[in-house]
Amino acid sequence: MGYRKYRRCRSAAVSRIKDDDSIRYSDELIEEIRISNDIVDVVSEYVRLEKKGKNYFGLCPFHREKTPSFSVEAGKQIFYCFGCGRGGNVFHFISLAERLDFTEAVRLLADRAKIQLPESEDPREKKKARIKQQIQDINLIAARFFYEALKSKQGEAATAYLKKRGISDSTARKFGLGYSNDGWDDLYNHLKSHGISEEAMLDSGLVLKGSSGNLYDRFKGRLMFPIFDVRGNVIAFGGRVLDDSLPKYMNSPETALYNKRKHLYALNFAKNHIEGSLIIVEGYLDVISLYQSGIHNVVASLGTALTESQGRLLKKYANEVIIAYDADTAGQAATMRGLELLTDTGCSVRVLSLPEGTDPDDYIKRNGADRFRKLVDNALPLVEYKIKTIKTEHDLSKTKEKIKFLNKAADVLAKVDNAMEREMYIKRLSREYEISEEAILSEVLRRVRPSARQIRRITKVAEPAGKTNSTAAGLKEKIIHGERFVLSLLCVDNSIYNVVKEHFKIGKFIWEENNRIAKILYKRIEEGYGVSPPELMNTVSSDESGIFARILNEECHCDDNEKAILGKIRDIELLKAEMRRDQIIDLLKNKSRLTDDEVDKLESELRELIQEIKRIKEMPEYKMEGRG
Ligand code: CTP
Ligand code: MN
Repeated sequence: MGYRKYRRCRSAAVSRIKDDDSIRYSDELIEEIRISNDIVDVVSEYVRLEKKGKNYFGLCPFHREKTPSFSVEAGKQIFYCFGCGRGGNVFHFISLAERLDFTEAVRLLADRAKIQLPESEDPREKKKARIKQQIQDINLIAARFFYEALKSKQGEAATAYLKKRGISDSTARKFGLGYSNDGWDDLYNHLKSHGISEEAMLDSGLVLKGSSGNLYDRFKGRLMFPIFDVRGNVIAFGGRVLDDSLPKYMNSPETALYNKRKHLYALNFAKNHIEGSLIIVEGYLDVISLYQSGIHNVVASLGTALTESQGRLLKKYANEVIIAYDADTAGQAATMRGLELLTDTGCSVRVLSLPEGTDPDDYIKRNGADRFRKLVDNALPLVEYKIKTIKTEHDLSKTKEKIKFLNKAADVLAKVDNAMEREMYIKRLSREYEISEEAILSEVLRRVRPSARQIRRITKVAEPAGKTNSTAAGLKEKIIHGERFVLSLLCVDNSIYNVVKEHFKIGKFIWEENNRIAKILYKRIEEGYGVSPPELMNTVSSDESGIFARILNEECHCDDNEKAILGKIRDIELLKAEMRRDQIIDLLKNKSRLTDDEVDKLESELRELIQEIKRIKEMPEYKMEGRG
């Protein structure tokens, strides 16, 4: 086979961070963890693999299929699915299979290989990591303490309250519910008996300092809800009173470990039951009640309006989000904000309508899980929900109000990107309000502004839209693909580095992402460490790992890598020349916009390009590759 042995990479360079608030692990360590987790072994824990030739095949765990199109290549230590296009190295596999981000996958595989992860070198980072760990330890001690208290005599009222709310013992156990005693310093004393320092207690937010310097418990006489992160660690608590007193809820403050804007309650349970969509509710008790009724794909925002981080988190786990907020006005305003935000992150959003004055908990208790599932099925898509809401704000029996309503509806429709979808809504409005489709359409179109990208395109190159444009896009796509092949083959065979470097200086890749990757690869090779295909995977973005895996899997099987790379370089040069040629031809179509001088320059460049294209096509290496 053509590939040379992959040289082990030993680089001290700090690796790319895929997760903003985690420790940075060195490339060297990441590589050690990767090498210690053979991809065939790891995947075998999830998929039954069969060896065929030098690859292993099995049923893809990431999409439904009956015949195996999921392959694992032991030599390159990568996987690729021909059915769904997912691919990458062992870290990508684990992050997909366990729904973890890259750093979390690294941690899991370090655990699996019994590799000790060091604390960061930076003393500030080190301190932060220590504090986080300490808070996590304290939270676990506290969660157990609250749990025991609920079972004890002191917790009787809380147990009775749970019973009144219809929450079973096993559900309470599942969610780790507990009770904070009605004393002043029960938890404080308990933590002290565990040797926890006062400073650490204060850091956790579970203990507060009074004006006279005395320490006392934050939570007293409350039903306690541990808040978990995706991996199931207790990161904070919420506590509810057992009666109607105020404040109804008290929560852990923001700590080094907990940021309420970044987490979703119960996502650790819900992530294993996504079923395509995720339901988001407002309250802890809504989640618990739905869960108990068998609806498991449900999470709660933590007493805030949905944030962008939460939006991204949701998007990571589900393509569709169903908002089931309380039917009160505050709930509706929050719904609107949430809707906007989620669509911006690329989620498809529907809104579930509950009867006035009820929340999901009330509803499911009164009507059962099947009726709730019906509400889920009938949840309205974003646009319809917005139009419906606007409708309720206007008295449509009055002509003036009706016009106002239609204008606002046109505002909403103008934001719908998909022309077919827009047309469908216009038809519906037209039918319902007896206004011609044309009239509504013209109102909508009047509001549609060209997107920022369209404007940039118009002003930058002044190229006419249409066919020529799309072939330019096609050529560009081919060039980017060629660049990716070059980078992939370089990792399969480091000995072609000199040829690659000569033709692709950093900055010469037309795709910025490829420049970034090349910079990392070149540096490692120059430092004498070498690069291998699975390491390439560490540097590409997770969006592109499948694309690179496919190229490595399907295209990088050459007997003569040097010949292959020279052929590809010619391909790319040819494509670039053709792309520039097409661009110039387009520019020259609008001569009126150009000065005579500019026209002369473009025409002479065009002549040169045509010569160049002819020259490349006639090259012997090029013909040998059988192209052109
Ligand atoms: N919340 C909060 N602080 C408050 C009130 C509410 O943090 N003072 C948050 C909690 O996360 C709560 C959510 O907002 O779960 C929704 O509030 P609400 O609907 O009032 O609470 P529920 O959990 O539904 O409780 P219950 O059913 O007992 O009213
Ligand atoms: Mn409620």
